[in-house]
Amino acid sequence: MHPIISRISTAGLRLGSNFSKRSISVKTRPKVDIKLGQPTFETRPHIIPQPGNLTPGISALEYFNRRLKLAAQLPDNSLAIIIGNSVQYSSGAVFYDFQQNNDFYYLTGWLEPDSVMVLEKKGTGSRDEDVALHMLVPPNDPQREQWEGAKSGLEGAYEFFNADYVEDISKAPVYIRKLLSSTSNVFYDNQSNGGHLTSKSSTFKLFFNLGGTDSKNQTLNDVIMNCGKPVNPLKKLVALQRSVKSPAEIEVMYAAGQISSRAINKAMGQVATTAPFRTEKTLAKYLEYQFVKGGCDRQAYIPVVASGSNALGIHYTRNDDILYEDETVFVDAGGKLGGYCADISRTWPNSSNGFSEPQKDIYSAVLNTNKACIDLCDESQNCSLHDIHEFSVSTLKKELSNITGFQHVTAADVRQLYPHYIGHHLGLDLHDVPSVSRFDKLKEGNVITIEPGLYIPETDAWPKLFRGIGVRVEDDIAIGKTAGETINLTSGCVKEIAGIESLVSKGITTPGIDDEVVVLDI
Ligand code: GLY
Ligand code: MN
Ligand code: MN
Repeated sequence: MHPIISRISTAGLRLGSNFSKRSISVKTRPKVDIKLGQPTFETRPHIIPQPGNLTPGISALEYFNRRLKLAAQLPDNSLAIIIGNSVQYSSGAVFYDFQQNNDFYYLTGWLEPDSVMVLEKKGTGSRDEDVALHMLVPPNDPQREQWEGAKSGLEGAYEFFNADYVEDISKAPVYIRKLLSSTSNVFYDNQSNGGHLTSKSSTFKLFFNLGGTDSKNQTLNDVIMNCGKPVNPLKKLVALQRSVKSPAEIEVMYAAGQISSRAINKAMGQVATTAPFRTEKTLAKYLEYQFVKGGCDRQAYIPVVASGSNALGIHYTRNDDILYEDETVFVDAGGKLGGYCADISRTWPNSSNGFSEPQKDIYSAVLNTNKACIDLCDESQNCSLHDIHEFSVSTLKKELSNITGFQHVTAADVRQLYPHYIGHHLGLDLHDVPSVSRFDKLKEGNVITIEPGLYIPETDAWPKLFRGIGVRVEDDIAIGKTAGETINLTSGCVKEIAGIESLVSKGITTPGIDDEVVVLDI
């Protein structure tokens, strides 16, 4: 299915081996005249080591083909318009990491704020030259760049991101009004809040408010929505495309999954050392550091790091408690690479003595369910996400019925002990493409999580020894046509009881396991 996968062999991802197959001299900075606002092969070859790739693992050609594929779904004489994100602020001048609109990123690879893309499909069908990319981006501005660093500008959008037409974002309303006047169909998702109202960037003011430049004082959203042409939803079309990952995307997600797996294994191995983690907070930060040290760009989401019964809060993200030695450590965490997320949950004993018997019983029920559900993850099984969810409920019920004190659980009990769903699509977004139905049959190229869990409430209704135990085992699965072609992207993350107990009692001693990965071979 994905022949390219063999380039990162599973053997190369086992504990102890190093991802990096390339080396880059760190002695002297090589002379490069090009300045751009995001990593490229020319400016950051350790992040994009392959010429021809625009973002990690994804080629400029693939971005071009994604646009052609989207255009093929549009009628002749159409515009698809996406307004990119602006920087968001937590308070005052303090901003968050920039997060691009992921549909915009998926179609262009562009990672700068305050930009707009328009895909124009002209009159005569699917010939490549009938599809044009317009990018409206912040222009180069030496004064601004003195403070914020290099930006790609219009020239970068043209030369590196293969836009056919570029324009200064401050001219967006006029420029887009003109495009709208000569098209028949518009594909755009109404941003009833006018876009990103909390942005404080100076470009934003030009971007959404025409001010003096337009007598009607309309926002760009108004210009599009009031253009007098049919405005059709775009997101669903892009979502369907995004839900089927290409071989290159699966390769990037495999790397993210295996790097994240290794980081979590290392965290388990710390239990056996003379310096085990004492708090949820330090473990959370260790994981974030290890994702990046292993080659990811950042963590994919705020993790859950929960000692013992804290895991009963499904989205416990306070991560501010002590890690008690007689409790389990519950982690839901993952790294992000080239925009693609890994999403892993594991539970392990915070003691070299291993799991207690009740912990082991609950853990085994969840692990067996995780494995049985993964066995349904290929196209030949003809299952939807919802079919797998229903199967996970019945499997957990059966597993629980083998545990003393749980013999008579009903399906309703199981829904109380397992209050969430089996999983979700995964990709650029953690809960990727939510508009794709859970009832659609899974097909080759879908990537989903499989994450059954059990959370035993601390109430009299449940056997005393089990109260407060929370377990989830979550893996990321790339669906193949057959079982042999399905890939568990997080296969490197230890989950068998024997493997976990070996890690927490003996740790990891593999040479090179903690080396920093500077150049990832993708
Ligand atoms: N990490 C959130 C989830 O598993 O869906
Ligand atoms: Mn998760
Ligand atoms: Mn998940």
